[in-house]
Amino acid sequence: MKLVIAIIQPSRLEDVKEELYRADVNLITVSEVLGHGRQKGVTEIYRGAREHGNLLRKVRLEIAVNDNFVEPTIKAIIKGAKTGETGDGKIFVLSMTECVRIRTEERGGIAIG
Ligand SMILES: Nc1ncnc2c1ncn2[C@@H]1O[C@H](COP(=O)(O)OP(=O)(O)OP(=O)(O)O)[C@@H](O)[C@H]1O
Ligand SMILES: [Mg+2]
Repeated sequence: MKLVIAIIQPSRLEDVKEELYRADVNLITVSEVLGHGRQKGVTEIYRGAREHGNLLRKVRLEIAVNDNFVEPTIKAIIKGAKTGETGDGKIFVLSMTECVRIRTEERGGIAIG
């Protein structure tokens, strides 16, 4: 089990969601966050609203998947989010030790989706 965390441009969210659904990835958590990458928010100001000095508005996706879904999930995010410009975002893949569906108390891979 892995937790895929992606930080993307807010304007790419709809396209990323569409690509994820196409890849049969249907469970997702979305948050609005602030951040900057290695340009420290300086060169991509035109792409989005600046907040708190050099921090830019981003969207954070959290997607818990079974191992065979990691690559399709990464590919879908890239397909929806990549423009080739700085600030397209980043994907982090973390090992996940447990998942529990509260309603049924199912655990592990079966509880993910
Ligand atoms: N190493 C990191 N740790 C935590 N958050 C990060 C890291 N790298 C990027 N982020 C987050 O992802 C967002 C998008 O990063 P961004 O695409 O600008 O990465 P980058 O490394 O600067 O690449 P690029 O040169 O393509 O812009 C940032 O605004 C920040 O919120
Ligand atoms: Mg950057």
